[in-house]
Amino acid sequence: MNHLLSIEALAAGEILDLLALAAELKRHRGTPGTQPLAGQTWALIFTKSSTRTRVSFEVGIRELGGYPMFLSKNDLQLGRGEPIKDTARVLGRMVHGAIIRTFAQQDVSDFASYSNIPTVNALTDDEHPCQILADLLTVRETLGGWDGRKIAFIGDGFSNMTRSWMWAAKRLGFELAVAAPAACLPPAEFLTALDAPNVSVTLDPAQAAQGAHVINTDVWLSMGQEEQTDKERAFDGFQINAPLLQHAAADHIVLHCLPAYRGKEITAEVLEHHASTIFQQAENRLHVQKAVLSHLAQAADLRARH
Ligand code: CP
Ligand code: NVA
Repeated sequence: MNHLLSIEALAAGEILDLLALAAELKRHRGTPGTQPLAGQTWALIFTKSSTRTRVSFEVGIRELGGYPMFLSKNDLQLGRGEPIKDTARVLGRMVHGAIIRTFAQQDVSDFASYSNIPTVNALTDDEHPCQILADLLTVRETLGGWDGRKIAFIGDGFSNMTRSWMWAAKRLGFELAVAAPAACLPPAEFLTALDAPNVSVTLDPAQAAQGAHVINTDVWLSMGQEEQTDKERAFDGFQINAPLLQHAAADHIVLHCLPAYRGKEITAEVLEHHASTIFQQAENRLHVQKAVLSHLAQAADLRARH
């Protein structure tokens, strides 16, 4: 693995290896360990807001012996129109790896190819791979795994989160039911390319929740869509609330990647009732990303590359 650009680009074995290492790093956190990023500087290039992703990457890089350099869009000439391919060719000669949060998936792929350094997708409009790795670790920790489990995603059926979950279902083979309003369903061409009979799509949240062991949601309006009030109105009936959870399996968990908007996609009552799992999910960002960085550390060694 030279980059983490998407869940789509990962093989099942790579996902399982990352989760195994994440569990080990979590178990041994705080005890002296190897420092695979010793002597390395990793740039965090963020053109969207972040709490969890930024903090977990900065802490994770330090715990692995490296130095994080946070660069918002306004810190870089990128904000004044310098092309991504030029930014990539400059940073590729100076830093060891890059973690990018932005809009277009193409920008992250272009950065990876032009910079020639390990590049991690820290959220684009298409995918949020680091979050899905943390979610899978949480499902494994709380339910023992996903085999024979039904996972429901209720909300925006074509957000970065849903797309990454659909690719995870394709790779790992678990049952995934997506419920979304008609305007937010995954398009037919995406489902054809996905080619996953274990992924179903419905307009009915109760149908997706029926017998589900994991009830998953996300904001209705992703970053960059805040003005789309028409889109938000379509989510009437898609809230994760106590009546909807009546349809779920008795031992269900609720996941939310956060930030949460109480009273919109989830009620305050449900969020607080499931807070221990939801904040475990947030903490797991740190552990899975340390696993990702550890896997990429060797490819990030400048001496090995030049
Ligand atoms: N879940 C997540 O990526 O959170 P942030 O936007 O705070 O990084
Ligand atoms: N779909 C959300 C995820 C936030 C972590 C967004 O892109 O804003």
